[in-house]
Amino acid sequence: MGVMEFFSPGVIAVLGSCVLFLFFRWKNLRGPPCIQGWVPWIGAGFEFGKAPLEFIEKARIKYGPIFTIFAMGKRMTFVTEEEGINVFLKSKHVDFELAVQNPVYNTAWIPKNVFFSLHEKLYVLMKGKMGTFSTHQFTGQLSEAFHEQLEDLGARGTVDLNDFVRHLLYPATVNTLFKKGLFPTDERKIKEFYQHFKTYDEGFEYGSQLPEWLLRNWSKSKRWLLTLFEKNIDEIKAHKSVAGHSRTLVQAVLDVVETESRQHSPNYGLLMLWASLANAAPIAFWTLAFVLAHPEVHKTVLEAISSVFGTTGKDKIKVSDDDLKKLLLIKWCVLEAIRLRAPGIITRKVVKPIKILSHTVPPGDLLMVSPFWLHRNPKYFLEPDSFKPERWKEANLDKNAFLDGFMAFGGGKFQCPGRIGTGEGGHDLCLVRFTLYIRWFALLEIQICIILVLYKYDCSLLDPLPKQSCLHLVGVPQPEGRCRIEYKQRT
Ligand code: HEM
Repeated sequence: MGVMEFFSPGVIAVLGSCVLFLFFRWKNLRGPPCIQGWVPWIGAGFEFGKAPLEFIEKARIKYGPIFTIFAMGKRMTFVTEEEGINVFLKSKHVDFELAVQNPVYNTAWIPKNVFFSLHEKLYVLMKGKMGTFSTHQFTGQLSEAFHEQLEDLGARGTVDLNDFVRHLLYPATVNTLFKKGLFPTDERKIKEFYQHFKTYDEGFEYGSQLPEWLLRNWSKSKRWLLTLFEKNIDEIKAHKSVAGHSRTLVQAVLDVVETESRQHSPNYGLLMLWASLANAAPIAFWTLAFVLAHPEVHKTVLEAISSVFGTTGKDKIKVSDDDLKKLLLIKWCVLEAIRLRAPGIITRKVVKPIKILSHTVPPGDLLMVSPFWLHRNPKYFLEPDSFKPERWKEANLDKNAFLDGFMAFGGGKFQCPGRIGTGEGGHDLCLVRFTLYIRWFALLEIQICIILVLYKYDCSLLDPLPKQSCLHLVGVPQPEGRCRIEYKQRT
């Protein structure tokens, strides 16, 4: 038998398939270990979806510092240690806008072209806004807004702590960032707003990924909120600011949105509403819960508040910048609560192959970092599971620097401060600028809220400190189970 006869077309096809099979296996071997289940498209979706926050930590323990989860048609590659996180923050081959564009469309119907052309402009706006807003303006506005809500609470009561902070934070945030008086005051309308925002917020993660027809209630609440903005958008834009106050953040955002697309203003209104409430409210909850659950911290916090404002609890105090400086412990408590209840994931899209720890992550993957689990790495935080506000003594908060390994706002050690303002780094750089202003506002409003509540009321927990729910990865985790408090006006 001649050599040519041996290589008949059939044999060549078989050999070719073997080579291709080995080639793809070899290619795959260079990729991170992949958890992909057996069901096409769904992949590991069922197991992953049951408790995603726990799933990713178990995967890290089993597969090491980099691994991929294939679920619902998507490859998500998680990096959990320094080398991968550095790539996440600094590589030019990963992209924020591409990672969030689809979720932004699904949750707020902002089309791709509008989102891409506006995102950068909105960053520039934020950069400007940081200079325009004075801290003084916000501390006054927020103190006033919280007092209005506190007056409704009466002298004593027992409430669910989550409802309690929402009742304070939602109106104060909306009236400060959007337009004074926008938050409904009519009892029935308030109830309706809470119910629809709750449904929208709870379903946000599924809504960002799944077709809308699968989520009927969520879709109904999303439409209700969009209609609310459609009805109010002209009023928000036309609203004249109070003497001495500049235009609100959302008015400024809408001015920019209108340069590109008039009709999408309500959609941006909805997105800003979610962004401003979805993380800040649960963090106010967790801060109060942690403080009340730690008697020593609680006592020291009360002493600090009394030393600044006295003990009566009756005055309509206005928290000033100077007061906040004297109450640094409260800022540490907020930061420590954020550290322990940080968002489950932040994400970027890989646009060109990237090498991490001898693996090649292919384009198309979503690169993921979990601030929640990173904050439990003892390399960065001693006794990582303990609530220890005093660890924040080490941070240079005046210079906006947090502790090494802290990434709750998408920054931390790996966010090289030298990059701010150097013009290098594309979207990543812009994100840093954008969130700098936002994170400062978020911390400010939570601090003022906690100070006013603890000044006015003696509070105690009626239930044990709840665990975080493991059901979601996007944003700050919610509590699992109820957590009630009793409050009594201080005399
Ligand atoms: C403690 C409270 C908050 C936490 C933990 C938090 C966390 C985050 C995180 C992790 C991101 C994504 C960053 C990344 O991918 O690297 C983000 C983005 C964002 N946050 Fe917050 N946030 C908080 C409060 C707020 C507030 C009060 C606002 C008010 C408007 C806000 C508005 C935004 C916006 C608009 C973005 C998107 C930025 C962009 O498009 O580039 N956040 N936040």
